[in-house]
Amino acid sequence: MRPADLIRQKQNGRTITILTAWDSLSAALVEAAGADAVLVGDSLAMVALGHATTLPVTLDQMRHHTLAVSRGFAAAPSKQPLLICDLPFLSYQCGADLAVQAAGTLLKETPAAAVKLEGAEAEVLAVIDRLVRMGIPVMGHLGLTPQAVHRLGYRRQAEDPVSQERLLNQAIALEQAGCFALVLEHVPSALAGEVRRRLLIPVIGIGAGDDCDGQIRVTADLLGLTEQQPPFSPALIPGQQLFVEALRSWISAQTPTTTPPPAAPDC
Ligand code: KIV
Repeated sequence: MRPADLIRQKQNGRTITILTAWDSLSAALVEAAGADAVLVGDSLAMVALGHATTLPVTLDQMRHHTLAVSRGFAAAPSKQPLLICDLPFLSYQCGADLAVQAAGTLLKETPAAAVKLEGAEAEVLAVIDRLVRMGIPVMGHLGLTPQAVHRLGYRRQAEDPVSQERLLNQAIALEQAGCFALVLEHVPSALAGEVRRRLLIPVIGIGAGDDCDGQIRVTADLLGLTEQQPPFSPALIPGQQLFVEALRSWISAQTPTTTPPPAAPDC
């Protein structure tokens, strides 16, 4: 699967599914489930590394986890889902040269074929333009952008007409800058539908309603493994409870069935 295949999928009206993975086990699960693309999201900072936000994860950690994810795929490379890696906080905010270095490192040293980054400020658009011209496919991300948590929080974005107009213009600017797809997170469904109709590139929603070209989810949320479940991404199974119960029953089954050894002599 290549970035252009996702655009074709939109043209053919086929819903796109993208799931996150953070190691080889999660990668094997999402590949076996049939995801079109796999995102090594910077959410791994919270899901796999125990951080409170996505901000602390480093480029080298993203590289390390992307390699682990790629080792979890079983299919031949041409049949594998598209592998996309998030550019972590501060790897693209300090100028196009550093962004090319960061994104290029991920594409050079891992099998990732695209990167994702957040926002559409003038500086970010300049970075995207440069990355795309250097041959690096870019996925955009608007709405709730977790790298801006200290400014925006985790609340739903673009609730009023002015911010909805701004988001629509930003989405158009991202397409014009060369993004091959756009993630819209935690925005009103009607707005996501409007963006979807205005763009040629696929709009992939999370907490953005059903009127999108595809959906993306953090796999650990769907499997009920995360402590703080986002309101817009309910768990499909109570994973944490199921796993703890299975492990607890294994531990209880280990109670000794033979008589305990004699007590050690007093010295
Ligand atoms: O990091 C991530 O997992 C993401 C998804 C929530 C879209 O960006």
